Amino acid sequence: VRRVVVLISGSGSNLQALIDAQTHDELGGEIVAVISNEPDAYGLVRAREAGIDAVVLPHREYENRDAYDGALIKVIERHEPDLIVLAGFMRIFTPRFVQRFLGRMLNIHPSLLPAYQGLHTHERALADGVPEHGCSVHFVTEELDGGPVVVQAAVNVAEGETEETLKEKVHTREHLIYPIAVKWFLEGRLRFTAEGATIDGHPLPPHGLR
Ligand code: GAR
Repeated sequence: VRRVVVLISGSGSNLQALIDAQTHDELGGEIVAVISNEPDAYGLVRAREAGIDAVVLPHREYENRDAYDGALIKVIERHEPDLIVLAGFMRIFTPRFVQRFLGRMLNIHPSLLPAYQGLHTHERALADGVPEHGCSVHFVTEELDGGPVVVQAAVNVAEGETEETLKEKVHTREHLIYPIAVKWFLEGRLRFTAEGATIDGHPLPPHGLR
């Protein structure tokens, strides 16, 4: 069985989508641990309710970023994962951490990358009046929100859309595309190469599959 470790900081609705996929035998592997840097993250409750090992590793207890990432590497490697899945893990990694898991770490980001890297994506998209917004699953590299995109889902920005309604809409799409991307990886169909991501041996376009 392919082993997955999920990193969270908050509500964990994407984690829930992955758990649900696993329950329906649609994940292609098993979530063996959930790790949160925030002790109060609701995702920890979701993990425990699903019988998954839930670990709290509070960043505030570490002197600096490198010390934290070192501890995180240890906890992750104890679980011998094939894949690390970032599901709303709101921390920036050291290069050492990224290199350690290069090619086997995925993230989901609430924008149509390369648009709106960083924070407050929904707010910024609304302020710009763009007709379309969405989410992207991508491999994690040292470039923040800059690794090769695997798959994206777009939503229309409707008349009278608010940050809340837009966020909600994008979330529903995140829950659709993340389990699929994880499954592709665990089945060995999705790969990370020096040139970018490939699916079934074919290079993906810069914006991934849509
Ligand atoms: C998701 O919308 C995810 O795209 C975003 O955090 C949210 C977590 O929600 N991730 C980032 O912004 C990464 N920089 P969840 O805890 O309900 O899955």
